[in-house]
Amino acid sequence: MPDTEDEPVLPLAELRERGMAAVQVGTTRVLLVAVDGVDGEARAYDNRCPHRKWPLERGTLAGGVLTCANHGWSFDVVTGRCLDAGDRDLVPHRCRVDDEGMVRVSLDLDLARGRTLGT
Ligand code: FES
Repeated sequence: MPDTEDEPVLPLAELRERGMAAVQVGTTRVLLVAVDGVDGEARAYDNRCPHRKWPLERGTLAGGVLTCANHGWSFDVVTGRCLDAGDRDLVPHRCRVDDEGMVRVSLDLDLARGRTLGT
């Protein structure tokens, strides 16, 4: 059972204008990224960098790649894959766009914790 279920967080139109945005979902800071032309149209990730937990919202987004502002690690925002280290991908949260164009996020914090073990 997710810790938050399908919570509306931001209109997709606003996310597209901004490219990425950090939002609060329950007690968790989540990074949303617009992925135009890709199935789903948006992605949601834990806002902490898998390297040293720096807030990813302070990074830069260009050409589908998010670069952390702290040490410059980069991530493919469609897949979450880290382009600098093999086992440090972004931690995803479930995300969808509803019929009214609202981005909705579900958090499963146990799953997210499991995916960050060993980081
Ligand atoms: S904290 Fe993000 S690259 Fe080091």
